[in-house]
Amino acid sequence: MNETEVKKRIESLRAELKEHNYKYYVLAQPSISDYDFDMLLEELTQLEKEYPQFDDPDSPTRKVGGDITKEFVTVKHRYRMMSLGNTYSEEELKEFDERVRKGLGRDDFEYVCELKFDGFAISLNYVNGELRQALTRGDGIQGDDVTTNIRTVKNLPVRLKGDYPADFDIRGEVFMHRAAFERMNAEREEEGLPGFANPRNSAAGTIKMQESSEVAKRPLDLFLYYLIADGPEYRGHYENLQKAKSWGFPVSEHIRKCQTFDEVINFIHHWDKARHDLSFDIDGVVIKVNNYDEQEELGFTAKTPRWAIAYKFKAEAAVTVLESVSYQVGRTGAITPVANLKPVHLAGTTVKRASLYNEDQIKKLDLRIGDTVFVEKGGEIIPKVTGVDISKRPADSEPLEYAKVCPECGTPLVRKPGEAQHYCPNDASCDPQVRGKVVHFIGRKAMDIDSMGAESVELLFDAGLIKNYADLYSLTYDQVIQLDRMAEKSASNLLLGIKKSKEIPFERVLFGLGIRMVGETVAKKLARKFASIDALEKASREELIAVDEIGEKIADQVIDFFAQEHNCEIIQQLKDAGLHMEMEATEGPVSDQFEGKSFLVSGVFANFSRDELKASIEAHGGRNVSSVSSKLDYLIAGDKMGPEKLKKAEALGIKIISEVEYMGMIEGEIKDEVEPLDTASGFTQDDKVKNETENKNGDGQTSLF
Ligand code: IVH
Repeated sequence: MNETEVKKRIESLRAELKEHNYKYYVLAQPSISDYDFDMLLEELTQLEKEYPQFDDPDSPTRKVGGDITKEFVTVKHRYRMMSLGNTYSEEELKEFDERVRKGLGRDDFEYVCELKFDGFAISLNYVNGELRQALTRGDGIQGDDVTTNIRTVKNLPVRLKGDYPADFDIRGEVFMHRAAFERMNAEREEEGLPGFANPRNSAAGTIKMQESSEVAKRPLDLFLYYLIADGPEYRGHYENLQKAKSWGFPVSEHIRKCQTFDEVINFIHHWDKARHDLSFDIDGVVIKVNNYDEQEELGFTAKTPRWAIAYKFKAEAAVTVLESVSYQVGRTGAITPVANLKPVHLAGTTVKRASLYNEDQIKKLDLRIGDTVFVEKGGEIIPKVTGVDISKRPADSEPLEYAKVCPECGTPLVRKPGEAQHYCPNDASCDPQVRGKVVHFIGRKAMDIDSMGAESVELLFDAGLIKNYADLYSLTYDQVIQLDRMAEKSASNLLLGIKKSKEIPFERVLFGLGIRMVGETVAKKLARKFASIDALEKASREELIAVDEIGEKIADQVIDFFAQEHNCEIIQQLKDAGLHMEMEATEGPVSDQFEGKSFLVSGVFANFSRDELKASIEAHGGRNVSSVSSKLDYLIAGDKMGPEKLKKAEALGIKIISEVEYMGMIEGEIKDEVEPLDTASGFTQDDKVKNETENKNGDGQTSLF
């Protein structure tokens, strides 16, 4: 490469890495593997070393990823939050060891080896034994304040016990156990929501959710791995973690002091295999110098400590042969191509199938039947095909042609502009779609017919007793009792469950209809706005888009749904069966006065219970949220509300009103012009970072970590 080419490559690598950082940290939806990312970063590091003339302080080699989002308050870290240098090779690890020995000028120090949890980094500040603040890493200098969300993590100690320091920081990783993640994804699927690719993404995505009540429903877990506390008694890392454990923090038991490099290597070898027996994902091992004085002696590079390193495990890969490609049809008609492989052993299981995602992915790999392929099980639960060994390609192989028609019903597939997925448009009679729709309809968050499951749906379809979910309401006892393995009691329970579902409110019936992109929240919004299925059917695209959080894509799906004759017939059948196809008088919207406005209700009130107040906000078209962010419109402050919330809301200049003022607003007396109750703190949005605790060394620069 000449200099111009090098410059170009450097620029393109920087742009690419920034994009990947954004996808990983902010969106929690990475599109490449950690390994591929690390290789790109390594290439950039090398080029920047060789060509210092193209140096740039803004390069991703100099910065920590960055997860800051505009929805949260950004707060400066008391101690800088570093990332770790990493390596995939034992030779490089040996070089790290040599650097440490040389840096310290002696060999009688100790390492601590720990698991590298594959989750989301978090820094907690505890004052007098209680959590005061939780920050994400952000760009390492400042992070997002996610305290309210972190408080919902089940194993986070609410109140510490024992002899803890009065004010300290502790850092760790929020993650999800694999089983909990799979359960959560299954539930999402049931609700028609897209699943997360792996536990790490779902943990990261969850921490950045706006609704803490939603966060609380997600099964997050926590391990702490670094204590920062003042005092001579807190200078040993291993000892600190044992103390933290005694105060009530979750600390992993898989941690070991090592005196020699060989012991470190043994720990790594052990966990490279044993990691599959853990109930959560790790992506490597972290090696740290134990003593804090020695850590300080070694210091930092721009981005990482010189006293620690992460040894990362390569995603396990296997080589096998692609025998065929088949296509799966989901409830919404989405087509997923699946690679059928010659069975191969990989990371503790036999792999026969792997995901191919979509047509573009197949084209990118230039995949052909008979190809020798590499299969990887990274963080993803379903293995994926990552490449082809072209040298082994059969001479007569042909490029793969993507399916043109639905494998289930033969209908030509469609792919909408801008979408990666193909769809089967025959939602009226494509078998997996109609069956899937019934399973969705009876689901817990829709009609909640718990006397039925996916198996009974299959039986009813196979016996020709139903063709869609509306047919459930004309089933008779004589029909149901004839089903395979159906006892009298289950038959009457099943019918009772169906009958009881007629009481389900309109917003859940609407969700149950299974309109593409109309999940639980959207259904609620549409139901509240239009109040009946007839009004919704008549709504124009403009009227739909005018509803808070309803975009063009959702609006088009709603219009598409009602444009199909068979859907209107099903709706008529449901009406005839007596389902709620409109809001009850008491549920209906009272006004749309607060359309587009968000409220946070906090504290205790004299005239309302908290739930009543929330219901009143919704009835007037407003939205309830559970944490303070710059997007919040009103904080309704009751007695005994948390001082943190109040402080944060003041800092952001959010309107803080009393319940009496709220009542005035809904009576139309005060309208939208309420002044904040208390602006005495003088905080402004720009001040908020500056006002956070300054660094310990008081020089305004971040130090140590
Ligand atoms: S120590 C300055 N220990 O891995 C040292 N980090 O790739 C701070 N991680 O930013 C980190 N397990 O988010 C440490 N046992 C462990 C860890 C760990 C996972 C994460 C952490 C860190 C990232 C670096």
